[in-house]
Amino acid sequence: MRRRLASGLRRNFAVRIYLFLAGSLAAFAVLLTAISVHVQGRLLSDQIQREGLNLAVLLADAVRVGVFAENPELLAGPVENVLRRRDVRQVWVFGARRRLLKHANRPGPGGRYTFWAPVLSSGSYTTDMSLYFDEATRSPTALGRVAVELSDAPLREGRHAILTRSILAAGSFLALAALATALVVREATRPLRNLLADIGGHGLSARTAEAGDLGLVRDTFGHLVHEISALTAGLESTVAERTAELQRANAELAHARDELEERVRARTRELEETHNQLLHAEKLSAVGRLAASIAHEFNNPIFGIRSVLQAIRSLETLPRDEAESVDLAIAECNRVAALIRNLQSFNRPSRGVFGLVDVHRALDAILLLCRRELSAKNARVEADYADRLPAVWAVEDQLKQVFLNLLTNAMDALPAQGGAIRLSTRASGDAVSVQFRDAGSGILPEHLPHVFEPFFTTKPEVKGTGLGLPLSYGIVRSHGGTIDVESRPGEGTTFTVRLPIEGARS
Ligand SMILES: Nc1ncnc2c1ncn2[C@@H]1O[C@H](COP(=O)(O)OP(=O)(O)OP(=O)(O)O)[C@@H](O)[C@H]1O
Ligand SMILES: [Mg+2]
Repeated sequence: MRRRLASGLRRNFAVRIYLFLAGSLAAFAVLLTAISVHVQGRLLSDQIQREGLNLAVLLADAVRVGVFAENPELLAGPVENVLRRRDVRQVWVFGARRRLLKHANRPGPGGRYTFWAPVLSSGSYTTDMSLYFDEATRSPTALGRVAVELSDAPLREGRHAILTRSILAAGSFLALAALATALVVREATRPLRNLLADIGGHGLSARTAEAGDLGLVRDTFGHLVHEISALTAGLESTVAERTAELQRANAELAHARDELEERVRARTRELEETHNQLLHAEKLSAVGRLAASIAHEFNNPIFGIRSVLQAIRSLETLPRDEAESVDLAIAECNRVAALIRNLQSFNRPSRGVFGLVDVHRALDAILLLCRRELSAKNARVEADYADRLPAVWAVEDQLKQVFLNLLTNAMDALPAQGGAIRLSTRASGDAVSVQFRDAGSGILPEHLPHVFEPFFTTKPEVKGTGLGLPLSYGIVRSHGGTIDVESRPGEGTTFTVRLPIEGARS
């Protein structure tokens, strides 16, 4: 426990600084104290030595007459006086030829110092008289010697007092210095302590080794730098990922927007088409109603005229030329009657009976009907029938009429030397499609929007009425189907009829 506390304190940065400063101050104080004690001791010793010498000189001066007279009684007074001092242990007074004239002592413990002084014939003071009358002509003479032995107690006591004072001063200084150092270290290491508290508080401590406060700070900062660089790297890769995701999302958005725009365009086209078809249907129905009412009015007179003409034709007296003219008139009446029928069927396109119709059989019947005309026009029919074509729900006669119109138009478009007409059938989903493709003259782009309009024809007046396609359109629509045209002038034309398999039934 004690060892752990000691090693903990050693690792503490503040304690280490404190110990260093305090140790330095203590060493400094000890050194200063030692020097001071030594110097003061020397001073004291010099002073005592001077005092001893002075005492000896004073005694020598005082016993000058006694020594000169070699009279011990004269010596007793000064010696007694000197002995009164506490530190004087012994006193000797020697006369000429080292004869001991006076000796006094006072016993006491401890060491001693002995100071010698010569007893001179002339005094130390100017008032003193010389013991020789001719003193002025000769130099002072040594009459004897005195010795004063002093106790070393004052020196020891003085040294002891100096040591005690110095130690006390050093102790006080050290105590104050320790306090001041503690305060300074405390203030100086406050930021470090705060930092350590923060590190502990935020759980950032990365104490990995027994390295103390600074080691902890260093480890923690190393750990933080490592974590920050890891975070930065993570952040960079996250940013790159997010950027890539955003770019992907942007690309998807752009793709979705393009798709949406395409859908909107397609839908707009469909709507425009539907709108045109509606307009067209509306136009057709208006024309149909008008045509039917006119046709109705024309029907009876035409039949009357034809009956009259037929009656005239049956006359045997009729000349041959006239008979031919009447035949021509009857043929024209038939043509007008057919036109009237066509016009009437605008208004009642679905008058027939619906049933399951085999499209291939209906096409074959039409081909058979037009056999002669086809060969006259050198038209080569290529039948490209689907293997298994479902039957459609339709009025067979009306369907045949549509096929006949389209085949007749194809034949009319072929050049004089003839060409190919391709009939294809396909089943797709819930519809059957029938295609008439000819290698004929084609339709001019400016004519294409008008081909389904009633009475639009580019054919000579006697040949075309311009009702074939509008009639076919009306029939196909009444069957719930569609009819489309594609054409390139000089290359040919393709009409496609689509009929629902179950559409008309519902
Ligand atoms: N296959 C085709 N090739 C070239 N032009 C065509 C073709 N089909 C139709 N047309 C053009 O469309 C016009 C209208 O055709 P539609 O069948 O309605 O009338 P028509 O053929 O002119 O007369 P009708 O059919 O009444 O005898 C034609 O006059 C012709 O200009
Ligand atoms: Mg026609």
